[in-house]
Amino acid sequence: MPLNKIVKTELLGPEVKLFEITAPRIAKKRKAGQFIILRVDDHGERIPLTIADADAEKGTITVIVQGLGATSKRFLQKEAGDIVWDLAGPLGKPTHIEKRGLVIAVSGGVGTAVAMPIAAASKKAGNTVYSIIGARTKELVILEKEMTERTDKIFITTDDGSYGRKGLVTDQLKSLLDDGIIPDELVAIGPLPMMRAVSELTRSYNIPTVVSLNSIMIDGTGMCGGCRATVDGKTVFVCVDGPEFDGHKVDFAELGRRQKAYLEQEKQSMEAFSHQCRLEVKAKKLKIETA
Ligand code: NAD
Ligand code: FES
Repeated sequence: MPLNKIVKTELLGPEVKLFEITAPRIAKKRKAGQFIILRVDDHGERIPLTIADADAEKGTITVIVQGLGATSKRFLQKEAGDIVWDLAGPLGKPTHIEKRGLVIAVSGGVGTAVAMPIAAASKKAGNTVYSIIGARTKELVILEKEMTERTDKIFITTDDGSYGRKGLVTDQLKSLLDDGIIPDELVAIGPLPMMRAVSELTRSYNIPTVVSLNSIMIDGTGMCGGCRATVDGKTVFVCVDGPEFDGHKVDFAELGRRQKAYLEQEKQSMEAFSHQCRLEVKAKKLKIETA
């Protein structure tokens, strides 16, 4: 059996898919907060993905992928039985987990896949853990059942009010803080504007706030500089110094600019991907017609 075989897939929402992949050594070693870098096929780019879960006995790891660009969309086409070309990990520093009291895990969209193992490890360490999950609409809420099982209380928000409370995760968080529920630590994971907004809110309450940064990565070993960010006025490499940092010290504006650096190239590879998909559909149709 190839080492990195996909043994299970599950569609969690539109363009969001769970993959359980054989990776026995990583499954044994990985800790909450760590990630892998994989290539979907031999010509593929290297994409970082947080390990959402692992089963050391089965020798598998679980990653959750959102189809945002050409590579992730290509990955979503894979099914159980397919292989991923190669994968490396576990990378990055594990989350620093200790017993603090109350921990709130705030996650936006597919960021819940990253927040889940951290919430679970915090609970295991003896903390009371609340989780706030936010999504644009009901069908984009993922891992609600898993988060409910792993935490003491769960709050759900949707931007359009189709499920849970109407509004953003910060609205729910503000309500808890206004009610005097002040966590000893807060973990915020999701899109950059969300992590920035959460960090701004917790700053005024002096709540230690950890964010997980998803910078552009290439090697994942601190050599290429692709994942460079500024934290507390100093240059860091997210792949080896992170991915988790003090949210009150991250230069979010710079990160936002760096994330947009390759927009034109990303657009071109999406166009090439869509063109190829159209060709594949046509070729399939022709095969059926001539059969
Ligand atoms: P999204 O834009 O739909 O946002 C999800 C939720 O986050 C919203 O429903 C809202 O509650 C909250 N949110 C968003 N912007 C906010 C703001 N300005 N203020 C307060 N709350 C806000 O999220 P999505 O489309 O699922 O996320 C995609 C993005 O998340 C991608 O850019 C992806 O790279 C990133 N992401 C980050 C991580 C990470 O480790 N930080 C992990 C996975 C995905
Ligand atoms: Fe190359 Fe971090 S990905 S230095």
